[in-house]
Amino acid sequence: MEESARIEKGLQALEAWALPAIEGVEELEALEQIRIRVLGRKGELTEILRSLGAFRPDMRREAGQKANALKAKIENALQQRQQVLRAALHDGLAVQDAIDITLPGRPVRQGSLHPLTATLYEIVEIFQRLGFSVAEGPEVELDYYNFEALNIPKDHPARDMQDTFYVTDEVLLRTHTSPVQIRVMEAQPPPVRIVAPGRVYRRDADPTHSPMFHQVEGLLVDHGVSFADLKGTLQAFVDQFFGVGTPLRFRPSFFPFTEPSAEVDIACMMCKGTGCRVCKGSGFLEILGAGMVDPAVFCMVGYDPEITGFAFGMGVERITMLRHGIDDIRLFFENDLRFLQQFPAL
Ligand code: PHE
Repeated sequence: MEESARIEKGLQALEAWALPAIEGVEELEALEQIRIRVLGRKGELTEILRSLGAFRPDMRREAGQKANALKAKIENALQQRQQVLRAALHDGLAVQDAIDITLPGRPVRQGSLHPLTATLYEIVEIFQRLGFSVAEGPEVELDYYNFEALNIPKDHPARDMQDTFYVTDEVLLRTHTSPVQIRVMEAQPPPVRIVAPGRVYRRDADPTHSPMFHQVEGLLVDHGVSFADLKGTLQAFVDQFFGVGTPLRFRPSFFPFTEPSAEVDIACMMCKGTGCRVCKGSGFLEILGAGMVDPAVFCMVGYDPEITGFAFGMGVERITMLRHGIDDIRLFFENDLRFLQQFPAL
């Protein structure tokens, strides 16, 4: 009898601390500690239940019922508390990780073509519509293609004009896109009708010269090509690029690889030819160099020197500056967004 009284007291004491403890616990981890302390392998209630094994059967039943009733009660309390704490944990995480849908979205920035790229594309497209196809050549070029084959021998004074970046004696950064003329003619027989856009390099740096800039070369070779064809082609280009009826002027000039040669001007778009600061009072702006392909060049590529053709080369930076009234070439290469964003539609 004493034994069962002791058990009864033990169960009461257990109930007295365990149930309030379960109710008051705030952490799932602490709740688990209570469960272990009561129901674990060496838990208080487990020990009580185990000790019943030594009782007489009639006493065992009564004490056993009480112990099992308390066990069910505690298990139930543990489960309920666990549900409450789990739910609270979820709610907490939901608040913590919540996406604030009232924040304004980050705007997607719309890029645009660099003004030089836009000009280059436009020039090339105009010539493509005129029946020219696109050719390309290397920027690191042989002296032979950049100079020799273009009728500019080693001692030619025109080499000074070009202020070349040499890699070795025979290898250089091309100073113009004209070497592409030679590469194309070496690779195919006439007729030829190509434009060659690309980067070129000269040792030059000031507000109107950059050590790297872009040119578009043009070459047309066929039987019976005349200077009138050159004029007509360039007028068609200028009409489309600068506006229909833009006056063109051909000034006699010299290039070793064309004969005759010309520098080509358009009427100044700022003052319409009356003379202003941009055209330095002349009323005209130079836009390209051109001429009839020199027969010596045809000989270099193994063409019949009786064939005819014209060539031209224009500076993309220069044309872009004229068109937009930009007075410093370095603006193209500084990548200042305040400058670039002024050409959004391009
Ligand atoms: N290559 C010349 C230059 O860079 C331009 C040019 C090209 C002139 C084709 C005539 C014919 O100045």
